[in-house]
Amino acid sequence: MTTLIVNIKELLQVRENSILKVSGAEMAILPTLKNAFLLIKDDLIADFGTMTDLPKITVDTTIDATGKMILPSWCDSHTHIVYAGNREQEFVDRINGMTYEEIANRGGGILNSAKKLNETSAEEIYIQSKARLEEVMQLGTGAVEIKSGYGLTVEGELKMLRVIQQLSQNYPITIKTTFLGAHAFPSAFKDNKKGYIDCIINEMIPEIAKNKLADFIDVFCETGYFSVKETEQIMEAGIQFGLKPKIHVNQFNSIGGIQAGVKYKALSVDHLEIMKPEDIESLKNTETMPVALPSCSYFLSIPYTPAREMISAGLPLALATDYNPGSTPSGNMNFVVATACIKMKMTPEEAINAATLNGAYAMGISKTHGSITKGKKANLIITKAIPSYYQLPYAFGSNLIDKVILDGKII
Ligand code: NIG
Ligand code: FE
Repeated sequence: MTTLIVNIKELLQVRENSILKVSGAEMAILPTLKNAFLLIKDDLIADFGTMTDLPKITVDTTIDATGKMILPSWCDSHTHIVYAGNREQEFVDRINGMTYEEIANRGGGILNSAKKLNETSAEEIYIQSKARLEEVMQLGTGAVEIKSGYGLTVEGELKMLRVIQQLSQNYPITIKTTFLGAHAFPSAFKDNKKGYIDCIINEMIPEIAKNKLADFIDVFCETGYFSVKETEQIMEAGIQFGLKPKIHVNQFNSIGGIQAGVKYKALSVDHLEIMKPEDIESLKNTETMPVALPSCSYFLSIPYTPAREMISAGLPLALATDYNPGSTPSGNMNFVVATACIKMKMTPEEAINAATLNGAYAMGISKTHGSITKGKKANLIITKAIPSYYQLPYAFGSNLIDKVILDGKII
């Protein structure tokens, strides 16, 4: 099956396949090709170039992209898309003055979602979750990481991971899976934290690894959740079973989680709303990708990740949604890119790099995703006719996507 797209106004994020992430000043550069063609063979990008070099070939389908741009589909490296029900009431409680922390302390928050998840059948969770997955695919996301973490019991966590596996088998979007048993201490272990950590380490991790249900391990390292010491213990156990860490750190407090992540070679450290100078320092010259989640900052009215300071220090940065029922009930990467520009003062080039190539790196898939590169997955966004790619963050809230291509096919 071959598809030729012609007359592309501008092809964005054109890279050599040796470039797996961009850092610091490189983030300001978005390589593009104007007046281009792109050839898809099956599920891969087979060729591209300028229209003057258009090869004379017969293809199954031709798409005319006059006035339109093409970019690699968004790589959303941090989500909790699989959950049951919603937390609308907590949203209204926050409007009326309660804080996210107060809601969690009264047994709401993550524990509220865990209760709902454990009371809901796998079939029903699948139905609710697939609707969210289909929505983000239409919004241009072509690769997504999905976490467990609302089970907080052996059965609940396995149930979530199996739903993710089922989604991955049934949809063309690329899915990477993260085990987040250490998301909160369940009520049953309120006074026996060690007991829950033992359960994660001795029961959950071995069972998940045996059934190949996760690629990564995550921990919510935060005051009132998992301490740095507990985070290290859980990362270590995951690593022994081949699960690379990708952790939640510095959302509300800087307590040393970043340093722990770097020490255990975490693929990414995510949230980073509260950053001390030493946190930025410790990420320099490491393999760990910092990930910012601006729609979480927006929804909770908490600080935004200090992108400018981090990029000036030479760090890379990825952007993701954090799609979840409590802190970010939105999976719209277009909004994330716009918010990063508007609120974090990232340039459109930096934000697009952060939401494509660096996002792919934060899922360990930047050899196959995140840029327009021969041999990479044909997961693409075709925009509507727009004057320039600045329009993507500038016209925030508008849907500028004309077509989404996943695995080489229009969805
Ligand atoms: O990334 N911070 C921890 N976990 C999620 C939110 C979980 C929830 O409120 O349900 C997050 O923001
Ligand atoms: Fe999260």
